[in-house]
Amino acid sequence: MMEKRNLGKTGPAIGCLGYGAMGLEGYYGASNDDGAMETIRRALDFGMTMIDTADAYGNGHNEILVGRAVRGRRNDAFIATKFGIVFDEKESGTELRTGWGFSLKINGKPRYAEKALAGSLRRLGIDTIDLWYAHYVDPATPIEETVGGMAEAVRAGKVRYLGLSNVPADEVRRAHAVHPITAVQYEYSLWRREAETALLPTLRELGIALVCWSPLGSGFLTGTVRTLDRNDFRRNNPRFAGENLAENRARYAPLMAMARELSVSPAQLALAWLLHQGKDIIPIPGTRRPERVDENARAADIRLTDETLKRINTIARPGLAEGATLL
Ligand SMILES: NC(=O)c1ccc[n+]([C@@H]2O[C@H](COP(=O)([O-])OP(=O)(O)OC[C@H]3O[C@@H](n4cnc5c(N)ncnc54)[C@H](OP(=O)(O)O)[C@@H]3O)[C@@H](O)[C@H]2O)c1
Repeated sequence: MMEKRNLGKTGPAIGCLGYGAMGLEGYYGASNDDGAMETIRRALDFGMTMIDTADAYGNGHNEILVGRAVRGRRNDAFIATKFGIVFDEKESGTELRTGWGFSLKINGKPRYAEKALAGSLRRLGIDTIDLWYAHYVDPATPIEETVGGMAEAVRAGKVRYLGLSNVPADEVRRAHAVHPITAVQYEYSLWRREAETALLPTLRELGIALVCWSPLGSGFLTGTVRTLDRNDFRRNNPRFAGENLAENRARYAPLMAMARELSVSPAQLALAWLLHQGKDIIPIPGTRRPERVDENARAADIRLTDETLKRINTIARPGLAEGATLL
């Protein structure tokens, strides 16, 4: 079974790799519900305990899928979901411009959180969510107010642990003073390394785990993305747009060569590198294919030498990728 890691100072021991379910909503290509069930269950078979979803993925559909997949094996899973991206047109929120050129509507008010939580519990078909994140900080709501509302859900027994996603270090500190934060979710991979500068040191000081979203660079680090379909969500991401994709492929060619040299797949190298950055790191790779769950899970067994890690740091140094980031 896969190595376990403590989810921060306050959380339980869970598989060192989790599974991200967002791609099962077709953001990176078509998906179907039966295949999705098989894929999520395969992740649980490998001990990828943390299953990551959000109420906004597929406007609630992703939580329904995750709920169906864990039925009958609730104890094998550590279910993480998020609220705060408003996907119901009748609900209000604050506009947040992203670096990918689109806006999101965010609501971090306690009354909205309470309503969103009821929806998540209903769709997941469970009584308690293991880890509940604020998906983004609401620019119009102090983080203390948002986390104060989330803490009510812990007191009511509807949520076990609290998390924050896409937050800067100073907001984590303020939130943690209101209620212990168990995990922060942020984009972190050889494709995007800013978390190393201020966020990760702060999380380490406070004893909070870093859950890495898009640990495979939304697929880029697998070396398999050459073109994108018309409806592929990654068309919004400047790193995949126009000439940037070809330029980035050229810049990362030495990393691909290194995977070949080590006889591992590029996806496995990307995940193994993350796992070597600290025992407080939990990557949550996504895939629609059960066989790729197998491949990704085996990254947990790869040992990289200090020499190899040094070479990777040089080859895929911070700032290497061309194109703006989400936040
Ligand atoms: N908090 C946030 O704001 C936020 C934002 C984005 C994502 N997330 C979370 O992070 C999770 C993971 O991120 P992600 O899905 O965006 O990106 P990712 O895990 O970095 O990459 C997923 C992509 O890589 C491909 N892939 C996976 N394993 C592969 C392998 N072994 N070989 C070749 N290709 C492979 C998948 O294609 P196939 O499906 O064809 O295998 C998919 O296109 C999400 O599911 C979501 O739960 C959170």
